Amino acid sequence: MTSTPNSLFRHYLDSLIQRGTTRASLTEEARDVLRTWYVTAKKGSRVHSPSSPSPRPEPQPTKTPPPSTNPELFPEERKPSSSITLPEGTMEDKLQYLRDLAQNWKPARDLNSLRDTMVFATGNPHTQLMLIGEAPGYYEEVQREPFVGRAGEKLNQILKAMGLSRDMVYISNIVKFRPSLPNQRTNNRAPTPEEIEACLPIIMHEIQVIQPKMIIALGGTAAVGLLGEQGSVSSMRGRFHDLNGIPVRVTYHPSYLLRSDNPREKRKVWEDMLAVMERMGMPVSEKQRGYFLPRE
Ligand code: URA
Repeated sequence: MTSTPNSLFRHYLDSLIQRGTTRASLTEEARDVLRTWYVTAKKGSRVHSPSSPSPRPEPQPTKTPPPSTNPELFPEERKPSSSITLPEGTMEDKLQYLRDLAQNWKPARDLNSLRDTMVFATGNPHTQLMLIGEAPGYYEEVQREPFVGRAGEKLNQILKAMGLSRDMVYISNIVKFRPSLPNQRTNNRAPTPEEIEACLPIIMHEIQVIQPKMIIALGGTAAVGLLGEQGSVSSMRGRFHDLNGIPVRVTYHPSYLLRSDNPREKRKVWEDMLAVMERMGMPVSEKQRGYFLPRE
């Protein structure tokens, strides 16, 4: 059998598992590569699967970049699906309905790969700015609130630099349950495309209820899940995407900044935030404009 980078890497992971390793650190870039492999493999099996109910046509070679919504991924859920009917009432009523629904959300529960505790959202639903992360981790599960661990501290710092606080924005996750691992303690893993797909209708309805003027996708999982676009954060950041008429800015996940102390990476995130502030008409001071620029 020929060895591809993919099979070598699998072999390496298998050997780690056999040695009892349940946790491996990956850089954001490595996670992006893995995600792309996974999505490509999944796409291949969908196209070739004889049991697939409606096989999709082979993608046509094209020189133009792919559209920002990729119909191969999460085809129906880009628009809030009709299987969820929001009740009449206030925004709070509708969010409470979604929270209750998420609690026993069968598509997610049926996977048996997510933990039991549901972590919904936090912040102010009457906001213009919605931030969407990946999935709860250990601390979020304990406190049942998104972004309360170290990544949450970093996110609070970013918000503060923008002149905002957690109670001025709405913070949610694309996956509402902590992805499970064998012998899990404080270790977390990123959600799989199936887990994202299963939870997507909930977040899409949160967006429909909140109707934010702007969404920030924190990290590749949120970006790929929301936009259906394959690619790394570095290829998706630096511009606005469109999600059913709402501008979406993709940026690195706060945990990436915890791992990388490089001011250039901080500056990239900060430039995304400056673009968001400008597009939303928020005041931006000269001091703010200069954050994380190299000193002369
Ligand atoms: N990372 C996320 O993406 N979401 C959380 O809630 C916590 C960490």
